[in-house]
Amino acid sequence: MRTALKSHMKRLIAGLGLVLLAASLGSCGSTQSPPPPSSGPVKTTNNAAYRTPALHGPVPRNPNMSLRADFAQGPRLSFSRVAVRDKYIAITFDDGPHPQNTPRLLDMLRARNIKATFYVVGSNVDAYPQVLRRVVAEGHEIGNHSYTHRLFSKMSDADIRQELARTRDAVVRATGVQPRTLRPPFGGMLPRQREWVNAEFAYPIILWSVDPFDWKRPGPNVVCSRILSATTAGSIVLAHDLHRQTVDAMPATLDGLLQRGFKFVTVSQLLAMQAESATAPAAAEMAAH
Ligand code: NI
Repeated sequence: MRTALKSHMKRLIAGLGLVLLAASLGSCGSTQSPPPPSSGPVKTTNNAAYRTPALHGPVPRNPNMSLRADFAQGPRLSFSRVAVRDKYIAITFDDGPHPQNTPRLLDMLRARNIKATFYVVGSNVDAYPQVLRRVVAEGHEIGNHSYTHRLFSKMSDADIRQELARTRDAVVRATGVQPRTLRPPFGGMLPRQREWVNAEFAYPIILWSVDPFDWKRPGPNVVCSRILSATTAGSIVLAHDLHRQTVDAMPATLDGLLQRGFKFVTVSQLLAMQAESATAPAAAEMAAH
């Protein structure tokens, strides 16, 4: 009886150890989603009722890094990932700024010393310039994601030119900085369009290599586990700060990536690394399509 009990206890303790190990590596279910921020209107300029929950205990921090962001324009116009020599990744948030979800996300990023890249829609910049000012003030990078979020491949050159210029001007008006790169809405852009847009605006075209399909709202745990399982060194991760579920997924996602040893940089910093290693044969990054 005693030995049976002992071995039973041993199994229990071993099982507990595995659970603890899994928890220490960061798991997607470990962070509870906050309750929905009531049924109040979404499009308001502030949300006094919302408070970012206090952190319980330390969170992992992205290391302090001083990295170049002055990428050189090379022959390649589009990137869905970048070949790097260490576990650097760029996380990107599209379609904002959003008056509630973007500030919540900024709190989460700041707590972890993470700089992200925001592909903003110009009409939202004009609606919430103060949110974008905070994005820039906290050291994040801005990219151009058009003014009205229509599919470029079905638009005239004149319309595309206007979409990009209006958004660039809205960003400059709100923050005093220029967008560095372009992400076309839905990733859709013809090769001919990539060429003239790059020549005129000097934007590299940034797609992505990790897509959690968070805009389909599969739930925060699914968003998190898709990102954690697909991210590798040099990944460009796509997410949307427009959606509450995506932001709900971020504490566990960011902690999980940090605990796996990834270091967050902006898209420009990632591109600058690609330029540095361009002489190495391994630097041929995956072609975007
Ligand atoms: Ni978009």
